[in-house]
Amino acid sequence: MVKIDLKNLKVEARKEIKKTDNLKDLDEIFKKYLGKKGEITRIFNSLKKLSPKERKKLGEGANLVKREVEEMTKERAKELQEELRKQKIEKEKIDVTRPGKKLEIGHLHPLTLVQREVEEIFQSMGFSVIIGPEIETEWYNFDALNIPKDHPARDMWDTFWLRNNQKIPNPKSQIPNKSQILNFKSQKLLLRTHTSPLQVRYMEKHQPPLRIIVPGRCFRHEATDASHEIQFYQLEGLVVDKDISGANFKAIIEEFLKRFFKTDIEIRLRPSFFPFTEPSFEIDIRRKKGKWVETMGAGMVHPKVFEAAGLNPKNWQGFAFGAGLDRLAMLKYKINDIRLFYSSDLRFLKQF
Ligand code: DAH
Repeated sequence: MVKIDLKNLKVEARKEIKKTDNLKDLDEIFKKYLGKKGEITRIFNSLKKLSPKERKKLGEGANLVKREVEEMTKERAKELQEELRKQKIEKEKIDVTRPGKKLEIGHLHPLTLVQREVEEIFQSMGFSVIIGPEIETEWYNFDALNIPKDHPARDMWDTFWLRNNQKIPNPKSQIPNKSQILNFKSQKLLLRTHTSPLQVRYMEKHQPPLRIIVPGRCFRHEATDASHEIQFYQLEGLVVDKDISGANFKAIIEEFLKRFFKTDIEIRLRPSFFPFTEPSFEIDIRRKKGKWVETMGAGMVHPKVFEAAGLNPKNWQGFAFGAGLDRLAMLKYKINDIRLFYSSDLRFLKQF
């Protein structure tokens, strides 16, 4: 007769059941003992070959082991299920006190920031913000601003001319009369070299008193370097009323520069020349007794410009100014190369 060590069987089963760490293995172990061909099942199957006495003894013993294996399996299954449940909870737990993930969000370009800031300051002083076309006619960009063809002053602006064969009516008037029709010229188109054309465009349509600023992109056909770009931004200003003087200009521009640079600054006006202003001056600023730096051109609106816009220069006075927005931004943020603004270099852009 085969000696069957029930005690050892039970010890082995218990060890294996305890060691399992998942329900699938547990199922396998259960089958190993109590499946169709399981070790304990085999004992039951062999009982019929035994004598009644032996059968009773082994049967009872095997039954006990069977119940115990069943019991242990059930127990272990419960434990494993509980572990699974805990793991699941742990995995799905949300710690609401943890700081959120920081999303990278975009931001405005430094020139846009500066433009908005400048607009806000001037708006608070009663100026309207006006925009105009980047493709201009020769008339608005030059002639109407008292810069006739072949005038040496045109050399101040290296111009991108457009190759156009279009005939554009002389835009002095929207609805031309007969003599104006005879006067129609083929207008050459160009990329505006400054924002000054908007002085004329605006005064044609709006009766003074008026106060406007015109931020916008301009273009010049020149070699680029740290302080020159073929595209850049300007800020034009125009104030027209019955009684406007250079003193009004100085007060307004001083207020603007102080608010923009957020420090006390000194300003100085130097005589200069622009065809569309008389007298003309250049405005320099300095901070903390430092070096004088040029910030903008300005002057009293030239009578020819009023005339070009259809206003009687005897009735109106005004001042105008033109500043480089890039230049203002460079001074404010101590940037030494204008080309950085147009470089799309994130190392530069992310600083704003
Ligand atoms: N348009 C001039 C330029 O681009 C700047 C300027 C100077 C504008 C004097 C003005 C002004 O309105 O009065 O160089």
